[in-house]
Amino acid sequence: MNIPSSLVPATGRLGVLMPGLGAVATTFVAGVLAARKGLAYPAGSLTQAAHIQTGKGATERSSLIRDFVPLTKLDDLVFGGWDIYPDNLYEAARQANVLERPLLDQLQEELAAIRPMKAVFDRHYVRNLSGEWVKETTNKWEQVQDLMADIEQFSLINHCQRLVMVWCASTERYHEPGPVHMSLAAFEKGLHENDPAIAPSMLYAYAALKMRVPFAMGAPNLCVDIPALEELARLTNTPIGGKDFKTGQTLMKTIIAPGLRARALGVNGWFSTNILGNRDGLVLDAPENFQTKEVSKGRVLEGILDGELSPELWGDIHHKVRIEYYPPHGDNKEGWDNIDIFGWLGYKMQIKVNFLCRDSILAAPVVLDLALFLDLAQRAGMSGIQEWLGFYWKSPQTEPGASPVHDLFQQLNKLENMLRYLMGEERMTTFGLDQYEEETAEVESETHS
Ligand SMILES: NC(=O)c1ccc[n+]([C@@H]2O[C@H](COP(=O)([O-])OP(=O)(O)OC[C@H]3O[C@@H](n4cnc5c(N)ncnc54)[C@H](O)[C@@H]3O)[C@@H](O)[C@H]2O)c1
Repeated sequence: MNIPSSLVPATGRLGVLMPGLGAVATTFVAGVLAARKGLAYPAGSLTQAAHIQTGKGATERSSLIRDFVPLTKLDDLVFGGWDIYPDNLYEAARQANVLERPLLDQLQEELAAIRPMKAVFDRHYVRNLSGEWVKETTNKWEQVQDLMADIEQFSLINHCQRLVMVWCASTERYHEPGPVHMSLAAFEKGLHENDPAIAPSMLYAYAALKMRVPFAMGAPNLCVDIPALEELARLTNTPIGGKDFKTGQTLMKTIIAPGLRARALGVNGWFSTNILGNRDGLVLDAPENFQTKEVSKGRVLEGILDGELSPELWGDIHHKVRIEYYPPHGDNKEGWDNIDIFGWLGYKMQIKVNFLCRDSILAAPVVLDLALFLDLAQRAGMSGIQEWLGFYWKSPQTEPGASPVHDLFQQLNKLENMLRYLMGEERMTTFGLDQYEEETAEVESETHS
């Protein structure tokens, strides 16, 4: 990632484009519209509701992040996207069944005005869905041209100054990087030759990056984390990030595990299971799609409880993750964790977590923050992988060879320090002694005067 030199102001409209207008995307858009009208408070969003501390001792102060850094205002956001179903956003939100009808009805006019563009879709990557609202072109190179034309037209019609793209579509089947993903030249040849290893999500990402539109991967798909697209992001100076929004059970894991590590408590087992009944759950019911999610969720613990560093405490953790499709629960996911831990003299203890969460309620503010922060990154002239946004990801993308940070608190520290840096404030490395150091300095100066 290159270092910012100056910050372009956040004037004009920012278009947020989303492949996939399902539960997460509709909850995000409806939430922004509701917040704009003063119907609801945007809890869960750092850009709207969190504070940042700057200064030390007597000069210490807290400001809302949105007052501290120049972010695009909610009033200046416009929304668009693609889906394999033609439902407008009001219909899609009703179908997703996350938000209650009285709220949706107050937003009906604005939601219904947003209609999906025809998608690029391949059932080979998502076998449990079949939609008709897809582009007629079948050659991947031509599909990319169509997507670029969509982006251009959306920007013109909506008078956008800037754009960002956040993938909110389904999880694609698991696949590993192959030769076609290894360089931009190989990838572009593969587009012309319709290489089956190029997934639909990669086509959206390629189209976005070609047009200098920052791209975030909300699912665990293999996508912008391939060398070809990292190269394109560098070439076009475009910020990218991924992958897999950190919500629900994994969010809890990255809150609890740092606490156990902090107190040097041992862990020998962490069993996590979920029941989930939305369309995402249906997609993940296919083993090849669940595998993509499993890999993304599985790496979180080893990044925090490092068994090589401390084999006595974390050298033999049995970590197991399950997701079961259970329609009666809809979007209201229920997660259970059983954590087997041990303490002083190896005595065993257990922690049980029963999280009755709402998947899209946790994911929607993440979409908002990523859209605003990726736009900020671009205005600051930062390009490539935005590691400071690792806070939002289950499986944070890093520069090749670097290890991702999973601890939520370390991630927050990185994010806040980047904001301080952008605004010319000192980074926070407080020892909690600043107040006493100041008092000592005052006494010393009084003694010498
Ligand atoms: N909700 C969460 O907490 C959470 C957390 C992490 C990741 N995610 C991921 O976010 C994504 C969205 O979740 P959701 O609950 O909104 O799912 P959803 O099934 O409600 O919505 C996904 C939408 O994407 C559409 N779609 C599929 N393939 C497409 C394509 N190629 N182009 C355009 N549209 C396409 C589907 O028709 C569907 O409407 C999923 O991949 C999910 O795994 C969600």
